[in-house]
Amino acid sequence: MRIVLVGPPGAGKGTQAAYLAKNLSIPHISTGDLFRANISQGTPLGKQAKQFIDGGELVPDEVTIGMARDRMTQSDAVNGFLLDGFPRNVTQAKALDASLGADGLALDAVLDLEVPEDEVVKRIAGRRICRNDSAHVFHVSYNPPKTEGVCDVCGGELYQRPDDDEETVRKRLEVYHRETEPIIDHYRGQGLVVTISALGKVTDVTERAMEALKRDAAA
Ligand code: AP5
Ligand code: MG
Repeated sequence: MRIVLVGPPGAGKGTQAAYLAKNLSIPHISTGDLFRANISQGTPLGKQAKQFIDGGELVPDEVTIGMARDRMTQSDAVNGFLLDGFPRNVTQAKALDASLGADGLALDAVLDLEVPEDEVVKRIAGRRICRNDSAHVFHVSYNPPKTEGVCDVCGGELYQRPDDDEETVRKRLEVYHRETEPIIDHYRGQGLVVTISALGKVTDVTERAMEALKRDAAA
């Protein structure tokens, strides 16, 4: 399956993607995680992306589209993938449609996670991620690690993302409404959008998502 996960910052895309990718046996591809790995390794791409990420702005399409395409053409993604954070504007969506179309492929679904803004603010304020891998995600009250400040998965140090401060979160939400929400209409026109509520326990949301994807595939 080829699935795009969409939703505001802090909706739980990364959290859900980890479970859904495992259930569906497809790789979880997060452009945010790819950028953060490049930043922590000090690569030229990371240096280019950092100023945009720290300011809550989108990294330019010229950089992002190439990076996402490279990752999607790796061998583990031949039978599908779960995209988290890409595409993030209509230009990226059209580039993705074109590159899949050129290979005779298409998306199967766009899973839209709906969460009220006051909840995403709470989720982001308490989020802690691992220095070794930003896909290892915790929350100080909703999903606390066994030992405070230590990643349950790999023992790495947990920290708060630099773009999770209040002012940058406000900016990211504004960018989401302006740039990213229009991709939902773009894909609604293709009959691909499946919307679910992402409120409630993480496992309940995963179950809801799996049911919705199954219903969509059967329709
Ligand atoms: P990215 O890393 O994609 O950030 P985002 O879209 O803002 O989303 P988040 O990662 O903040 O939230 P999430 O939905 O993954 O939530 P999570 O699962 O962690 O992008 C960062 C930046 O990179 C962008 O601003 C941009 O600069 C750049 N970028 C990335 N992709 C780009 C692109 N395509 N083009 C251009 N630029 C790009 O959950 C949040 C918290 O809530 C966690 O603490 C979690 O434990 C908790 N939680 C999750 N689910 C639940 C639940 N059900 N109940 C209670 N708590 C929960
Ligand atoms: Mg994320």
